[in-house]
Amino acid sequence: AAAEKGGYDTFMEKEIHDQPQAVADTLLGRTDESGALVLDELRISEEQLRAVDKIIVVACGTAAYAGMVAKYAIEHWARLPVEVALAHEFRYADPVVDERTLVVSISQSGETMDTLMAVKHANEMGALTVSICNTHGSTIPRESDAVLYTHAGPEIAVASTKAFLAQITAAYILGLYLAQLRGGSYAEGAQAVMRDLHEIPGKIEELLTRMDRVVEMANFMADTRSVLFLGRNVGFPVAMEGALKLKELAYIHAEGFAAGELKHGPIALIDAGQPVFVIVPAPDTPHELHKKVVSNIQEIRARGARTLVIAHDGDEDVVPFASEVIRIPQCPPLLAPLLAVVPLQVFALHLSTAKGLDVDQPRNLAKSVTVE
Ligand code: G6P
Repeated sequence: AAAEKGGYDTFMEKEIHDQPQAVADTLLGRTDESGALVLDELRISEEQLRAVDKIIVVACGTAAYAGMVAKYAIEHWARLPVEVALAHEFRYADPVVDERTLVVSISQSGETMDTLMAVKHANEMGALTVSICNTHGSTIPRESDAVLYTHAGPEIAVASTKAFLAQITAAYILGLYLAQLRGGSYAEGAQAVMRDLHEIPGKIEELLTRMDRVVEMANFMADTRSVLFLGRNVGFPVAMEGALKLKELAYIHAEGFAAGELKHGPIALIDAGQPVFVIVPAPDTPHELHKKVVSNIQEIRARGARTLVIAHDGDEDVVPFASEVIRIPQCPPLLAPLLAVVPLQVFALHLSTAKGLDVDQPRNLAKSVTVE
């Protein structure tokens, strides 16, 4: 078993360190020499894809957060509306779906019953169905019109890490392919993003060498009863994922919020010593979102929060209001989730360890939930 863990103490720790490879392998072979995306594996004709007028992502848990991240990116790159639905909610509502709807399921295992039922329902309604999946030959890809595999390798720890990064990568590839099909400046833009994506594995590698302080923080915080997470734009689902990891692994109350929502309620939760992770957008994010989130940090800090700030290298604006600054390498704003989530995974892992809990097999959870 020690060998299977690649010298790490737990599968989760190994899988966190597998992430550069998971992203690189998921990118591999999906572009030609000219840098254009080639997705012959999709087996859906270009005409059918060009006719798509709406995307609905269906998924559960971490996979649903990957879908939420992808929504921001695909709407921006391909100018197609994207909804994200929890699979179990989608199935028993009355979603508006027809032949021009592309239903994209995301599932590591390919066996999650809630997601499978959503895909079957989408098929019955005549939608095109694409599965983003990490497990070859599993049920969801077989029930879908097409599949785009993630190449994260087997994920053993119950809490998902490398599959999440691979899911974002694959959903981005799909969105960029749809952008490419639109031609012109969309296609050029897609190729530029692919070049940026290829730099992400090296940046994750670099980020993983900087985790000592995050581990220390987790060790100090073993008695913490509640942790909040704030993010905006693509940082919002990262905040939700950071909170989910803490619930799953450390059994403490954790909640992720959209930073803009703070003033509409959650700010009432802030009192002295409340730890709050803030995922700060890249400084060049449009619409001054960086500035807006920095002022959120200032607001909660003024109310006594312990601000644990995840910010890009060189972002000095956050420093005056941060109890701790956790640095991630610079990257384009829409790619930041592939970096920003890593310290949150490491934090949850080490908080769980500090509490003496079973990191790989948290109580009450199953790796794949095959009942509705
Ligand atoms: C379970 C796991 C979660 C996972 C979710 C979706 O609840 O505990 O970690 O995110 O299922 O799994 P899937 O295999 O469909 O990605």
